[in-house]
Amino acid sequence: TLPSASAHDEKGPIVIGHRGASAYRPEHTLAAYELAARMGADFIEPDLVPTKDGKLVARHENEIGGTTDVSAKPQFADRKKTKTIDGVAITGWFTEDFTLAELKTLRAKERIPAIRPRNTLYDGRFEVPTLQEVIDLAKRLSRELDREIGIYPETKHPTYFQSIGLALEPKLVDVLNRNGLNRRTAKVYVQSFEVANLKQLNRSLRVPIVQLINGSGAPYDFVAAGDKRTYADLVTPAGLREIRSYADGVGLAKDVIIPRDANGFLKAPTTVVKDAHKVGLVVHSWTFRNENSFLPADFRSSTDPAAYGRAFEEYDLFFKQGVDG
Ligand code: G3P
Ligand code: CA
Repeated sequence: TLPSASAHDEKGPIVIGHRGASAYRPEHTLAAYELAARMGADFIEPDLVPTKDGKLVARHENEIGGTTDVSAKPQFADRKKTKTIDGVAITGWFTEDFTLAELKTLRAKERIPAIRPRNTLYDGRFEVPTLQEVIDLAKRLSRELDREIGIYPETKHPTYFQSIGLALEPKLVDVLNRNGLNRRTAKVYVQSFEVANLKQLNRSLRVPIVQLINGSGAPYDFVAAGDKRTYADLVTPAGLREIRSYADGVGLAKDVIIPRDANGFLKAPTTVVKDAHKVGLVVHSWTFRNENSFLPADFRSSTDPAAYGRAFEEYDLFFKQGVDG
């Protein structure tokens, strides 16, 4: 049963197509999202970064050297730069240095071809989608599949983008408003790792908000002036109560729910799911796949657990902990 914070009526657990069906199509393409929905996902999950002219596009990172064919385009050779983002120096091509029209001349490619060689068959075929195109796709698929396909956008590097005058927050609110999706019962969750960003979004968003929690001991905000707390501090009962003041749910890395030992074996579950439910937070968890293991296309209707493989066994195990998605 979903705790009271949920604005949706799912019977749970919901299935979120993380970056689309990214084992089968290059991630964050309309083709990957569409396949995820057709495989049974309730939500598709675009990570969001901006273009130079302020349009939101779906990429896991703003650096696009590994996920598009930009390095093969001589006209963009001089756009290659080195930047420090969230304390990490990165060299490559960045979405914020391209207008949407320029970005649309690029084509997506498989991010990890050594692990997903089959996906390279699709290299060069798909564009980088805008958030608007993702919403249009979700609407079309909802009609075709006769069930509502939700969207679950994540703001990526929001503090960095604020610092360069390309704040994600007003752009996201604007797109949701224009599509009639900024309402409590819209099938939308907005997620981020960055606390300050979500507190800000909470002031203008009506849709439920999910605080992402990383399994590592990393500082919870990448640019948190003077605040040295880590994600571990956010999953204490006090931390969860604080999250409840601006969010409706937590998106927990799997290891936060069931930690692993040094050999990769699962240890005893923590109390975090119960603790989060106690303060009224929905609990979503990520991510149920190994990069090289696939859920069968009919995984939601199959009754043969042996067919699911390790990824699904894990999924089942975690859902027994009571997660909502
Ligand atoms: O929903 C959680 C997830 O989106 C965070 O992981 O892949 O964006 O780094 P990722
Ligand atoms: Ca994400």
